[in-house]
Amino acid sequence: AELKLFRSHLLSWYDQSKRELPWRTVAMKEQDVNIRTYAVWVSEVMLQQTQVATVVDYYNKWMKRWPTVQTLAEASLEEVNQMWSGLGYYSRGRRLHEGAQKVVSELGGQMPRSAEALLKQLPGVGRYTAGAISSIALGQVTGAVDGNVIRVLCRVRAIGADSTSPVVTEALWKIAETLVDPKRPADFNQALMELGATVCTPKNPGCARCPIQTHCHAYKKVSLKQEKDTKRL
Ligand code: ADE
Repeated sequence: AELKLFRSHLLSWYDQSKRELPWRTVAMKEQDVNIRTYAVWVSEVMLQQTQVATVVDYYNKWMKRWPTVQTLAEASLEEVNQMWSGLGYYSRGRRLHEGAQKVVSELGGQMPRSAEALLKQLPGVGRYTAGAISSIALGQVTGAVDGNVIRVLCRVRAIGADSTSPVVTEALWKIAETLVDPKRPADFNQALMELGATVCTPKNPGCARCPIQTHCHAYKKVSLKQEKDTKRL
């Protein structure tokens, strides 16, 4: 019951507060699965080291120029670098281009169809990006743990240990895979990211307006301590 409430609190908030982003539109859901997988791959690689607000324009321009994995494979690296200019970390664009060429020449133009296959087949796609693409584009029930999600989950579970340690990383992936809503994995994972980006921020988190405040162990600890301190005064 606790788990179901957690999901419904988070998803209701997301439905009301989410930002409309090009890879979240209804049109995207109606796209062919190969195009949708390609589109989410492009968006997730751009989002790896660049803020959402900056990515939107680049993403729209990119998808207009190369709407399919086939068209990207035919582009030259110079064109790709030119399109990437301003985003930084050019190896990301180069790997998208290399990946597109691999999909066309080795996979018959078919984007990989699972988190494992995405991770194995596409250069520049790590565990997080594979989980994000498989849940967002393919509707598969996978976790997706990025920097924002690490912070949210550490707070929800009051994990104080170093979140970069392998043991904590594994624990966080387990938690994410248990929490994800099997009925709405795409929305659930993006809701966790959105919460981390807009409410559960590194500094001055907005606990007062947090949809999962009642599920948050870090919040419980802090509010209990504040209560005790006030009584002592
Ligand atoms: N950061 C990484 N992936 C994202 C997504 N799909 N939506 C918003 N922020 C993100």
